[in-house]
Amino acid sequence: MQKLDELYRGKAKTVFTTENPDYLILQFRDDTSAFDGERIEQLARKGMVNNKFNFFIMEKLAAAGIPTQMESLLSDTECVVKKLDMIPVECVVRNIAAGSLVRRLGVEEGITLTPPTFELFLKNDALHDPMVNESHAVAFGWATEAQLAEMKRLTFAVNEVLQPLFAEGGMLLVDYKLEFGVFNGQVVLGDEFSPDGCRLWDKETRTKLDKDRFRQGLGGVVEAYEEVGKRLGMQFD
Ligand code: C5P
Repeated sequence: MQKLDELYRGKAKTVFTTENPDYLILQFRDDTSAFDGERIEQLARKGMVNNKFNFFIMEKLAAAGIPTQMESLLSDTECVVKKLDMIPVECVVRNIAAGSLVRRLGVEEGITLTPPTFELFLKNDALHDPMVNESHAVAFGWATEAQLAEMKRLTFAVNEVLQPLFAEGGMLLVDYKLEFGVFNGQVVLGDEFSPDGCRLWDKETRTKLDKDRFRQGLGGVVEAYEEVGKRLGMQFD
């Protein structure tokens, strides 16, 4: 499959059209952004690591019956995906309190959330991705009630697959963000699953192994991502 035109340049990935209108190529760049794109840095190897990481996780999810846009790995930094009609609402599940939940509610970081929480955020950098609810999403036409129900079902189904997977590697899946789109009328998991869009802590030491290393200036960002991948059995070289 060949890259044709650049369709969209996101903060960490570029999307290209292909000769087949149903398929796109995602290119993972080394760019790393935080705070709604206010801080951007290049981190060597990150595009390659996240592309391979994402492919590995999407394959696991597909094997568990979760529909994903992934088709194939194309190169170290590129993959072929189905072209979805993206729903502009992000789904976040939290198993442990961290990040914006801690800031918003003043709760202690690290407390276990039973049951896990589910939140929706509007994808809009200029507005800093505000939290929204289902009635906003329906009223503004971002998604139908049926689509929202399916997004919620699939987001929790992902937890059932990934919590045990990361636990086997000695890690806690603290929280994660998913994006969905529609393909032939079906709600399908899109975008990516990588340490850029989730929080992962070492189970024993609670060391952060995700993008919080970048947000908090802790260093060793790509090294941590590779360590997570290796603990799950991925190979990067
Ligand atoms: O910042 P917050 O605590 O709400 O983030 C929850 C989870 O969603 C984190 O794992 C974070 O990396 C992810 N997230 C994301 N993209 C955003 C917002 C949050 O990947 N725009």
